[in-house]
Amino acid sequence: MATAASAATFSIGTAQTGRSLSPSNPFGFKSNSQVNFSGLKAMSSFSGNETCAALRATFAPKAVKENQNRNHILQPQASYKVALLGAAGGIGQPLALLIKMSPLVSDLHLYDIANVKGVAADISHCNTPSKVADFTGAAELANCLKGVDVVVIPAGVPRKPGMTRDDLFNINAGIVRDLVSAVADNCPGAFIHIISNPVNSTVPIAAEILKQKGVYDPKKLFGVSTLDVVRANTFVAQRKNLRLIDVDVPVVGGHAGITILPLLSKTKPSASFTDEEIEELTVRIQNAGTEVVEAKAGAGSATLSMAYAAARFVESSLRALDGDADVYECSYVQSDLTDLPFFASRVKIGRKGVEAFIPTDLQGLSEYEQKALEALKPELKASIEKGVAFAQKQTVTC
Ligand SMILES: NC(=O)c1ccc[n+]([C@@H]2O[C@H](COP(=O)([O-])OP(=O)(O)OC[C@H]3O[C@@H](n4cnc5c(N)ncnc54)[C@H](O)[C@@H]3O)[C@@H](O)[C@H]2O)c1
Repeated sequence: MATAASAATFSIGTAQTGRSLSPSNPFGFKSNSQVNFSGLKAMSSFSGNETCAALRATFAPKAVKENQNRNHILQPQASYKVALLGAAGGIGQPLALLIKMSPLVSDLHLYDIANVKGVAADISHCNTPSKVADFTGAAELANCLKGVDVVVIPAGVPRKPGMTRDDLFNINAGIVRDLVSAVADNCPGAFIHIISNPVNSTVPIAAEILKQKGVYDPKKLFGVSTLDVVRANTFVAQRKNLRLIDVDVPVVGGHAGITILPLLSKTKPSASFTDEEIEELTVRIQNAGTEVVEAKAGAGSATLSMAYAAARFVESSLRALDGDADVYECSYVQSDLTDLPFFASRVKIGRKGVEAFIPTDLQGLSEYEQKALEALKPELKASIEKGVAFAQKQTVTC
């Protein structure tokens, strides 16, 4: 294990330009929930203020609470520990860099089975607050995880042309099982972000392993489906000539093919779509991963946009841990919104994980969405059952 401390100054983004930085205010700006720093400030910079306000009105109707939410002040001191498992990979490397940019992170632990030392040495030279440490191989995994607040797992093999996410199952299921088992032993209270595909199955696997270890907290286990939202927002903004920063499209269901269901009828700001546009956008969002796999022609799957989306989800989680009462993200989680045990939907995240679901997102669906919701359920159910069956066959040591 190697540790490299970095200087406490930080000057990326627009907020700091031309200001002198002091040790007591290393970022050179007043840090509150309306400031956009690093391009990673989730709710105002990613989802738009209009969406935020609308969700607040749905969920936190008391004006006094609204004011508290709006005035939440981020701690400028970095104080959270994040572990990234699979840090030397196509997603892992840019994601490590983006997490290194967060002023909320004090320690960034990078783990992989190989090649992580160089990634850590490289990233540790960035003059942002977090200390970077590298951990290689199973023998160093426990030390990587001790005391960590958020564990992000992009470890595994990516899709190659012609492969479906389920083709990855046999390799990635075992990787997720072993890593989550180590999380249960070493940081059972951490938020766990699962990126490794097929997410529809790897999240139920993680849940079963945590149950077997006696430490399952469904509020803290998240399947990262943020990339579907990022893509939906981008494609809708392009199609409807909307300002990208204001567009928010909830995406529900799961994270593969037809299980990905963008709720275009719930687009904010509200937009109208022809039947052809709905079909075209829905199919493009569902197949966007394949678009990248084919364009990369054998060199992997989405890594850069995935890293961006995962960084957004990490930042949202850190803001929630920091006490921001205004954090909403779509995620694939244990859920009672439908008859399926796991389901992606917008959730409110707080200090203890998922605080609430937003059931209104599933009310008043268009006929197209209602049909698509029913159509996705058998596939999603089968993927969940496949994950549960895999995990139940495993013997974990407690
Ligand atoms: N959730 C999403 O939206 C989404 C999007 C794109 C890709 N993915 C998935 O993310 C995963 C990673 O994709 P990638 O492009 O970064 O792949 P990659 O092959 O470039 O990187 C994977 C990394 O995981 C490491 N690894 C393998 N086994 C490990 C283990 N047991 N412990 C720790 N590290 C291990 C590898 O050494 C490698 O560095 C794949 O499963 C891919 O399908 C998810």
